[in-house]
Amino acid sequence: MEIIVSDSVEEMSRTAARLVARTLNSKPNAVLGLATGSTPLGLYKELVRMHQEEGLDFSQVTTFNLDEYVGLTRKHPQSYHYFMHENLFQHINIPKQNIYIPSGTTDNYEAFCSWYEQRIVECGGIDLQILGIGSDGHIAFNEPTSSLGSRTRIKTLAKQTIDDNARFFDDLAEDVPVYAITMGVGTILEAEKILLLANGASKAKAVAQAIEGPVTSMITASALQLHPDVMYIVDRPAASALTMSDYYEWIQTKMPDAP
Ligand code: GLP
Repeated sequence: MEIIVSDSVEEMSRTAARLVARTLNSKPNAVLGLATGSTPLGLYKELVRMHQEEGLDFSQVTTFNLDEYVGLTRKHPQSYHYFMHENLFQHINIPKQNIYIPSGTTDNYEAFCSWYEQRIVECGGIDLQILGIGSDGHIAFNEPTSSLGSRTRIKTLAKQTIDDNARFFDDLAEDVPVYAITMGVGTILEAEKILLLANGASKAKAVAQAIEGPVTSMITASALQLHPDVMYIVDRPAASALTMSDYYEWIQTKMPDAP
């Protein structure tokens, strides 16, 4: 596990974008796993800039998003379909048919979830998975006590997550869907490389538990400790509860090609 502590959210986003660009430069038809939420916004903005100003090419890229709210149509402003289109897809040259996002409106969730898992495999698996982290330590919508072997499925959201995400909805908590369709922890762990981003003091406890605590379904991000190639990029407030942060920062100064 590699932990990079950034001085700012902007630096965190730029470092993450460089890693994505490096992946695409070495494998133009890479499969990316994408996350939503406020955390990856700066990363997406930087990727759009790299595409527009430096020609970063997405023409052969395939993407799989982690999750979607159940019941929201793709045109709903709070749907993750809408979020991805607004913040990334409409600004880059990715072919529409290469974009996969779980459906929040299918009439057969079980069949959809199996199909989604199968498509990931048929596309060769995810080369680089981008993750954020919930304040309760969840990844995607794998809430506390989710099986660490879980696959794409319907999940009931935790009260904490509903409260955290209420800021995006008009009528606050009343409007936040209770269910989501999400890749499982087991699905995420099959990615070749995983990059988790976190910023802000509200993530400090979850980040510390995920990196330095025991592997537990109570903090689903802790399952990343079982993966051989995980990088965390966190800003200083998000790193503030890590007991070994001096060590992580010291390692960075010793690594000649640190991103
Ligand atoms: C939601 C998403 C997660 C995301 C989390 C944190 O629960 N399903 O993928 O990591 O929110 O969101 P934010 O980045 O806005 O803090």
